[in-house]
Amino acid sequence: MHCRIIGAPIQEGTDRRGCDMGPSSLRTAGLVEALVELGHSVADMGQVVPTPGPLQAHPNKALKALPAIAAWTAALAEAAYQMSADALPIFLGGDHSMSAGTVSGIARRADELGKPLFVLWLDAHPDFHTLDTTTSGNLHGVPLAYASGLSGFQGYFPKLQANVSPERICAIGIRSVDPAERVALAEAGVVVHDMRAIDEHGIAPLLRAFLERVAAEGGMLHVSFDVDFLDPAIAPAVGTTVPGGATFREAHLVMEMLHDSGLVTSLDLVELNPFLDERGRTATLMVDLTASLMGRRIMDRPTRSF
Ligand code: ARG
Ligand code: MN
Ligand code: MN
Ligand code: MN
Repeated sequence: MHCRIIGAPIQEGTDRRGCDMGPSSLRTAGLVEALVELGHSVADMGQVVPTPGPLQAHPNKALKALPAIAAWTAALAEAAYQMSADALPIFLGGDHSMSAGTVSGIARRADELGKPLFVLWLDAHPDFHTLDTTTSGNLHGVPLAYASGLSGFQGYFPKLQANVSPERICAIGIRSVDPAERVALAEAGVVVHDMRAIDEHGIAPLLRAFLERVAAEGGMLHVSFDVDFLDPAIAPAVGTTVPGGATFREAHLVMEMLHDSGLVTSLDLVELNPFLDERGRTATLMVDLTASLMGRRIMDRPTRSF
């Protein structure tokens, strides 16, 4: 596999500073070396640089850093769209607002290739606010709604060339949903597996059902991995910790199943805040999980799909 590493040192989408150091922390934790060891070719494309746009006024006075996030979205959408078809882009965040750019850019690419795009959203939060519904005003809370084509972004965020169909999104690990998001998710038809669903059924059958859909439709699969998907006890380096997250074993299982499926075509690693880390343990875990997604395994297994 040809992996392309793209740094997105964006931190304006959240109140807490430090996510801009995420890409360096993942590199320091040995991401490139881990991929090379697995036999992949890796090109580190460096960091994306946004071009700041004009200041914009919006009726929602809570919104923070709107021009900065709009600029990042434009730059990242272009970078994601420009990826050659045989490359697997790995976007290093940066807060989750970066996925407004990565997902919309990949949606445009998928559209051109005539393939349906699916998104696996691994997160404590659905990030399904619009510019009108967010009360925190932190724009890492809106990327999935934007990339899904929800209204209210026109004139503020870059014009969407293509969107991901909300019913082709599967969110797993969800345990913090704001009231407006709850309504919007149901209306849009996003498949949400909250922590209760994981407790009741186990994570494997939920993921397997989604992967079977992706395979049946011959789709592309973008995985957006927010550090707070994981339980804070194993992944403290994130500003928006929510108790009761995915365990070490659940997370590796998800990654290994994704690898076995052979369906993943792009990946975001987001919300790592190295300022909050403990001797690099969260960065190291994110690298190890990425290695599992890219083929690291404990023992070889009899070939089966997923
Ligand atoms: N829903 C909350 C908000 O809009 C939290 C969002 C957290 N998002 C994230 N990418 N960590 O402020
Ligand atoms: Mn998120
Ligand atoms: Mn989150
Ligand atoms: Mn064991």
